[in-house]
Amino acid sequence: MPVIALIGNKGGAGKTTLCVNLAAALATESPAVILDADPQQSSLQWHDLSEAQDLINVIPAGQDVQQTYDDLSADYTHCLIDCPPSAQSQQMHDALRIADLAVVPVLPSPLDIWATVHIEQAVDQARQVNPELKVLLVINQFESRTRLSKLMESALAELDLPASRAFIKRRAIYRHSFLEGRTVHDIGSRGRAASEEIYQLVEEMEKFL
Ligand SMILES: Nc1ncnc2c1ncn2[C@@H]1O[C@H](COP(=O)(O)OP(=O)(O)OP(=O)(O)O)[C@@H](O)[C@H]1O
Ligand SMILES: [Mg+2]
Repeated sequence: MPVIALIGNKGGAGKTTLCVNLAAALATESPAVILDADPQQSSLQWHDLSEAQDLINVIPAGQDVQQTYDDLSADYTHCLIDCPPSAQSQQMHDALRIADLAVVPVLPSPLDIWATVHIEQAVDQARQVNPELKVLLVINQFESRTRLSKLMESALAELDLPASRAFIKRRAIYRHSFLEGRTVHDIGSRGRAASEEIYQLVEEMEKFL
């Protein structure tokens, strides 16, 4: 079962939003499971709101992410780990040891770009025990007409971590769907553009899984 860790060193970059929407896109024949490793438990809160999400299971990761992963009893198509917003957190380090791919949402801001330096270090450290670990930065809340967002493309090229070609745009539907316990895929035509960009990202991720 492929394992995807949603990680970052800054709060509010979009880990939980991407986690839930990626899980829904990846779950096809059998459910995907989200291990909620963030003490804020946002993925679990979303799951409590959602009644019709039988293709996504959300489980608290507890203190020992590896143990919770080992103890998974059902068959899942993918396991996604929603991590706390700190490169110093034990949960993130544990998740990187078992992940095939780390997805790092980054807001289009210099502060967020700089914060990824700590992610690079954490990934290097994890690769000592998990040499196959892959990483993909994803620009989230992209606004195509802003000068800052344009500058992001060149700033990303300077980093050592690979970035996805798919950008996730800033769209109110990501917030609305979450509040309704839904994903952008099951909220009708209002979610179509968002759903398409999530599937583009999935296509890039699948090369690493
Ligand atoms: N592409 C987007 N467009 C619009 N709003 C977004 C987008 N991505 C995330 N958001 C909103 O931004 C806020 C932060 O997103 P989210 O909670 O997913 O980030 P996070 O990285 O999980 O945060 P934390 O570090 O606190 O766990 C939320 O209110 C979410 O609805
Ligand atoms: Mg979160």
